[in-house]
Amino acid sequence: MSDDKQPLQAIRWDEDALLLLDQRALPMSSVWLRLGSWVEVAWAIRVMVVRGAPAIAIAGAYGLALAVQEGADRAVASAGLLAARPTAVNLRAVLERLAGLDDEALLTAACAEHALDVANNRALGQAGVALLQDALASRKGVLTICNTGSLATGGHGTALGMVRSALAAGVALHVFALETRPYLQGARLTAHECLEDGIPCTLITDGMAGALLATGQIGACVIGCDRVAQNGDAANKIGSLGLAVLCRHYGVPFFVAMPTDTLDRDCADGDAIPIEERDGDEVRQVQGTPIAPAQVPVWNPAFDVTPAALITAWVTEQGVWRLPFPNG
Ligand code: MRU
Repeated sequence: MSDDKQPLQAIRWDEDALLLLDQRALPMSSVWLRLGSWVEVAWAIRVMVVRGAPAIAIAGAYGLALAVQEGADRAVASAGLLAARPTAVNLRAVLERLAGLDDEALLTAACAEHALDVANNRALGQAGVALLQDALASRKGVLTICNTGSLATGGHGTALGMVRSALAAGVALHVFALETRPYLQGARLTAHECLEDGIPCTLITDGMAGALLATGQIGACVIGCDRVAQNGDAANKIGSLGLAVLCRHYGVPFFVAMPTDTLDRDCADGDAIPIEERDGDEVRQVQGTPIAPAQVPVWNPAFDVTPAALITAWVTEQGVWRLPFPNG
């Protein structure tokens, strides 16, 4: 695949409304929702019509533009959008950039944020090519979790963007995607994206990661992130921490693809990162089909925190970062 190929898209602006590809329905059906108010956008973020930290931020920026269009209170809309999902911090970074702008400038600024995300992902991807080339010199497997590609961003992707950029640069690799229980972003979205875009990919269940690492096929693990603390601790999709521990055991480098908007300098370490807990039915059911007793208590944190000590490098649009992070 050439680096110029247009991959899947999940977010579009159409005259006076935000169009979102409903990620709850993928890969079985491709349904676009038309949203005309900030309240609808906040709902779409909460129920995960749109998900992935950068995509949430872009949708939120358009949501603020819709608030102005509706004549709604900007501060109320901003707070409502921010509250929709608490862990991903990219939306806060974007809303802070938009805060000082006049009403008339908001839509143009939201479009610019969308374009900037794609540009940043491409730069991040390029920054990661040499890392992946080295790591995959003798083992071609790349382990990843959740969905961090075009569907999770404005386009190209972060962790999957690194994979795209490495493939375009001629690096031979094969993605192993964890299904990512309970929401199945790996099975439903990453597998779909890889097939759509010709990225070599094998799907595994989350519990197979250790056995796969033990086979010696994996040269690197690359994940995205929803919020990174100043000390490098990284919150990402539940299951990331377990992968990091396994990778350390098997001596496999563990890379975090991190657009700099994901760095929260207000969080000294991972303990300060708020972790979203979601409805227990996501665990008791699979796509609405019960698989457990309806009354069984469930713990359903959407994210976990990988300590910086388990992370080999943080790949940003500004280059590869190691600790301590550059001062902002
Ligand atoms: O709950 P989700 O699907 O929004 O979780 C997404 C992730 O954990 C991603 O890895 C993260 O947002 C980075 S996406 C480029």
